[in-house]
Amino acid sequence: MKQYIIKGGTPLRGEVVIGGAKNAALGIIVAAIMANEPVKIENVPDVDDVRVLLDAIEGIGAIVERLDRHTVSINGALINDVSVDEEAIRKIRGSYYLVGALLGKYKKALVALPGGCQIGSRPIDQHIKGFEQLGAEVTIHHGKIDARAERLVGRHIYLDCPSVGATINIMMAACMAEGKTIIENPAKEPHIVDVANFLNSMGANIKGAGTDAIRIRGVASLHGSEYSIIPDQIEAGTYMLAVAATKGDVYIRNVIPKHLEAITAKLTEIGARVEEFDDCVHVSADRRLSYANVKTMPYPGFPTDMQPQMTTLLALSEGTSIVTETIFETRFKYVGELRRMGANITVEGNASFITGVEGFTGASVSAPDLRAGAALVTAGLAAEGYTYVDQIHYIERGYENFAEKICGLGGHMELIESEDERALRKFKMKVS
Ligand code: UD1
Repeated sequence: MKQYIIKGGTPLRGEVVIGGAKNAALGIIVAAIMANEPVKIENVPDVDDVRVLLDAIEGIGAIVERLDRHTVSINGALINDVSVDEEAIRKIRGSYYLVGALLGKYKKALVALPGGCQIGSRPIDQHIKGFEQLGAEVTIHHGKIDARAERLVGRHIYLDCPSVGATINIMMAACMAEGKTIIENPAKEPHIVDVANFLNSMGANIKGAGTDAIRIRGVASLHGSEYSIIPDQIEAGTYMLAVAATKGDVYIRNVIPKHLEAITAKLTEIGARVEEFDDCVHVSADRRLSYANVKTMPYPGFPTDMQPQMTTLLALSEGTSIVTETIFETRFKYVGELRRMGANITVEGNASFITGVEGFTGASVSAPDLRAGAALVTAGLAAEGYTYVDQIHYIERGYENFAEKICGLGGHMELIESEDERALRKFKMKVS
């Protein structure tokens, strides 16, 4: 079983380059199959979720060519199947985009229900409501979403909550529906705008992504395009907080500082320094930071995907902090693992009450999901001694070259690939 071994206590220093946004990539890769011509996508992160999705679209007949590690060409002209149900696809969240894309293009889709991190009940009723309002009949049977329509017709759709997944899914189906669709109360996350820009680059007619209403005029077909994915806001945010937790000094490059504002604001509030440049942020901290209250909110609020990393940082800061999770119901499962490292946190309902401690001590911990896993890595980097993080397949779903990037910043983090390597590593540590 793979594992990260981290020797903590070294401030991160230097510079790190952020990759393409995973959550944008998932939407864009699926949207690409809607064209009948090759689409070239750049800045694709080389992470497990992306690999699973590329395999899935290849499985239904899309031609996928890896032009280099971060560039892929996708041609959806020869898709011969609208049924997607591999074991792997059931484990990732982004698989639900296949419903919107296939329904929009072929007016039918049969896709395994999505998985993803176990952080709450994660219903998809808003996706289904949107497809139905466009004229599709949607049923769930044998663990699959079955959506089909004679024709899709644009409608006025009001989302009950600003769901990222539902907004992108409905946008994809609607861009090949007849007439005009308006999505009210959509999500406004940067990757919504990125997927909309990408669809427009293929000839779709989408206006208002990132605002309170998205207006889509349907088109009959989409064409080839070249597109570069935006930088990953959450990967960048994770490094920003790891730098602060280790009292380091790092230039985080290839970012859009505006997308990081909620994180920057909290870091500044608790006493870290953040300097913004055109496509870079410089984060540094030279002392223990102070408390803050944080509430997760849809963009432009504080992202739920940064909540575990922020809780970790506040658990090392002076004073008492409260972190309230408003998006997902069970997103504090990692707190028990942080306690093993010395954190003083209690969870009541959707809030964690944190009394900051002077430091953590390394321990064996297990990642319960992707972002919580990143938080445990952050904790390990700040802790005294060795931390062993298990279940890192969750972390590898969303962080490319995590250990290499941390080592590039002077941190000590190693990826152990097998039991043998783990035994050898433990032996070496004993004798060194
Ligand atoms: C996406 C992201 C995930 C991020 C989340 C919130 C991807 C692949 N994943 O997940 O990393 O944490 O946005 O920023 O992009 N909801 C409903 N009904 C629905 C859909 C959602 O009630 O049909 C609720 C959810 O339970 C949750 C809230 O809406 O409380 C937000 O969920 P949503 O934005 O849809 O999250 P995901 O798309 O699953």
